[in-house]
Amino acid sequence: MDYFKRTRISKILLEDRVDLNQEILIMGWVRTIRDSKEIVFVEINDGSCMGNLQAVVDNPDNFPDLKQIMTGAAVRVAGKLVESPAKGQKYELAASSIRLLGEADQSYPLQKKRHSFEFLREIAHLRPRTNTFGAINRLRSKIAFAVHKFYQERGFYYIHTPVITASDCEGAGDMFRITTLPLNAVPEENGKIDYNQDFFGTETFLTVSGQLEAEIAALALGDVYTFGPTFRAENSNTSRHASEFWMIEPEMAFCDLEGDMQIATDFLKYLFSYALEECADEMAFFGKWIDKTVRETLEHIISSEFERLPYTEAIKILEKSKQKFEFPVAWGIDLQSEHERYLTEQVFKRPVIVFDYPKKIKAFYMRVNDDEKTVGAMDVLVPKVGEIIGGSQREERFDVLQAHMEEKGVPLEPYGWYFDLRKYGSAPHSGFGLGFDRTLMYISGMTNIRDVQPFPRVPRWAKF
Ligand code: 4AD
Ligand code: MG
Repeated sequence: MDYFKRTRISKILLEDRVDLNQEILIMGWVRTIRDSKEIVFVEINDGSCMGNLQAVVDNPDNFPDLKQIMTGAAVRVAGKLVESPAKGQKYELAASSIRLLGEADQSYPLQKKRHSFEFLREIAHLRPRTNTFGAINRLRSKIAFAVHKFYQERGFYYIHTPVITASDCEGAGDMFRITTLPLNAVPEENGKIDYNQDFFGTETFLTVSGQLEAEIAALALGDVYTFGPTFRAENSNTSRHASEFWMIEPEMAFCDLEGDMQIATDFLKYLFSYALEECADEMAFFGKWIDKTVRETLEHIISSEFERLPYTEAIKILEKSKQKFEFPVAWGIDLQSEHERYLTEQVFKRPVIVFDYPKKIKAFYMRVNDDEKTVGAMDVLVPKVGEIIGGSQREERFDVLQAHMEEKGVPLEPYGWYFDLRKYGSAPHSGFGLGFDRTLMYISGMTNIRDVQPFPRVPRWAKF
């Protein structure tokens, strides 16, 4: 194979590092092919960047493979890189040889026209070959790298937390079960399922969050972060919920809620700036075809102060508003998406961090405030998407944690290890979770989470 001889199109178009009149080798997939008797133009995309390279074939009769090459085919083209006389492209390839590597016939579903995102989800095996999903995949990769860069440059350690877990971090109960028990003959003991006979000898699930394990790591390594897949079995078929999504969860020892909010702000601004600087072609594409305002939106956020708003104040603002909400507003309610979006889009027109939520509606691990009615929780809300980050200062006091869990009816027994952290060298600590897929929606302007994930998992859909 010529793998190591091949020049990526990104090296030519993006990095501009290939000399003219040099013989090079390109491998990729045909986007279009236009022919006349004397000359054939083959547009090739190899996935390395947005741009296509056009191969120009003089005397097509001398290229026997050409007749079988259609849109979608994989090809190997050798030739000299020359300046292009055509408008809109700097270079083209004067082809000296063309080989068909893998044919595609007329049934190739991605013929040259715009396809709906719904249709493309049904062909997730071919959609990365479209401009939109090529761009999304490259953006995902670049922003994932930026996540690591942000934390690594600040002295955080990357922790791999388990995917299989026996504890329900969020206490919400929307978990996927893991079992090897035979579903048609589940063993029972005293009328209950006997998990002792299951693979791990206990009930196990796919994790909803790596936070509890990240806390273990933070109380040993100081500053840590996780970045991995998380799973939620909530049957909410919205455009912002996926059953499998990626989350970034930093966890900082010796940090309070104030510091938590600061890091969340810096982190979001960093990712958005990174996208504008390092994914310029993709961002230009999103701005042209997906949402004309994406660049403006990101620039606005980068330069704004994030509003910090206690929950109690947020409720007052919502109550005073003349807005008709589907879910009525009163102190103690969990903010719904319509409330969150009203605050960030209509009232403040910039990101809003709501903090100090009622204890009753939040998870057991959040630090109880002196008023004993609220906890040190914070959610970052952004226009268009709503909640993008959820975080808190953690309860570091043994007795308070125990009382809080009892109040919530969380069984204490499985959390012995979590209590130990409060028994031996406990320290204030905080962290948050950023939904990676929602972040990509925000950056790209895509309005459905299914269209920023290569292989989305949502209720009734686990294909590919
Ligand atoms: O607010 P959540 O549930 O917070 C936690 O899981 C904490 N343990 C995080 C922490 O403090 N370490 O989820 C965090 C973020 C949300 O703000 C949202 O962006 C995203 O994860 N998220 C989802 N994204 C896509 N699909 C879903 N079903 C999501 N559920 C949460
Ligand atoms: Mg949340």
